[in-house]
Amino acid sequence: LIAVLGAHGQLGSAFVKALGGDCLPVTRDQLDLTDTGSIATWVESVKPTLVINCAAYTAVDAAESDADTARAVNTVAVGALAEATDRLGVGLVTFSTDYVFYGEKQGGYVESDMTNPLNVYGATKAEGERLALAANPGALVVRTSWLLSTTHHCFLTTILSKLEEGVVSVVDDQRGRPTLVDDLVRSCLDAVDVGATGILHLTNRGDTTWFGLAREIAELAGGDPKMVRATTSRFVAGRARRPLNSILDTERLRALRVNPLPDYRESLVRAMRTIT
Ligand SMILES: NC(=O)c1ccc[n+]([C@@H]2O[C@H](COP(=O)([O-])OP(=O)(O)OC[C@H]3O[C@@H](n4cnc5c(N)ncnc54)[C@H](OP(=O)(O)O)[C@@H]3O)[C@@H](O)[C@H]2O)c1
Repeated sequence: LIAVLGAHGQLGSAFVKALGGDCLPVTRDQLDLTDTGSIATWVESVKPTLVINCAAYTAVDAAESDADTARAVNTVAVGALAEATDRLGVGLVTFSTDYVFYGEKQGGYVESDMTNPLNVYGATKAEGERLALAANPGALVVRTSWLLSTTHHCFLTTILSKLEEGVVSVVDDQRGRPTLVDDLVRSCLDAVDVGATGILHLTNRGDTTWFGLAREIAELAGGDPKMVRATTSRFVAGRARRPLNSILDTERLRALRVNPLPDYRESLVRAMRTIT
């Protein structure tokens, strides 16, 4: 039995769909991760073979002024899950982010690069990674980036709805790797099958800026890409800073002999065919 936490979220719902009958979807109503004390009791009573933790506090800007809740979900709960799964011999997969990096590296970040987050969300996730592996060294911590789907609120759906209203300004100075959730799910399950543990970067191939991605989305939707204008990141009080380069290098995946994820453009075309 594979329990998927965050079953209503963007990534969690993709796992639930892919796993079908083998999966126990777990929502916030069933297990609220801010209630740290309930986590071990839940693992003991359900005793799944594997927990895939897709639940997280993902509101990057809101986290700046709500650090306690972000930390409870992204750090403390992950530590408690790791401790309980390790003690009961249950497998654990949990997700982290490219935002654990500062963003000044030339080229892609590898798993062993030093984390140095620029914002509260990134800091809570980096500390969650550390606690996960300290309490459960057999856990798999998957770092991913720029998640896209057609089913949930994300950059793709935001750009499509903003384009209906007119010109959209998008930052052209943050570079990363868009990742379609269905591709991520497939390759994460492959990594579990080969027994991967520790930190693993999983993203689609290819990289771009948010502006480049928005233009591609506009074009694929049959719109005018010139409706997307380039802008640059600037400091806005209360908003989180984001890394300028957060490209995750995925060479470790090759070493594990797991099929790499396709180029994001291929998958974006396929995903958008389902909605346009
Ligand atoms: N989205 C991205 O671009 C991105 C990039 C890099 C890494 N990641 C990581 O990838 C993972 C999945 O992200 P996502 O995009 O699927 O996030 P999401 O759509 O925001 O889903 C997060 C899920 O966590 C649940 N949750 C939040 N607080 C909870 C709590 N206190 N107790 C129980 N459940 C709680 C939410 O429940 P409700 O449905 O009840 O709100 C939601 O189902 C996360 O670890 C995230 O940090 C995401």
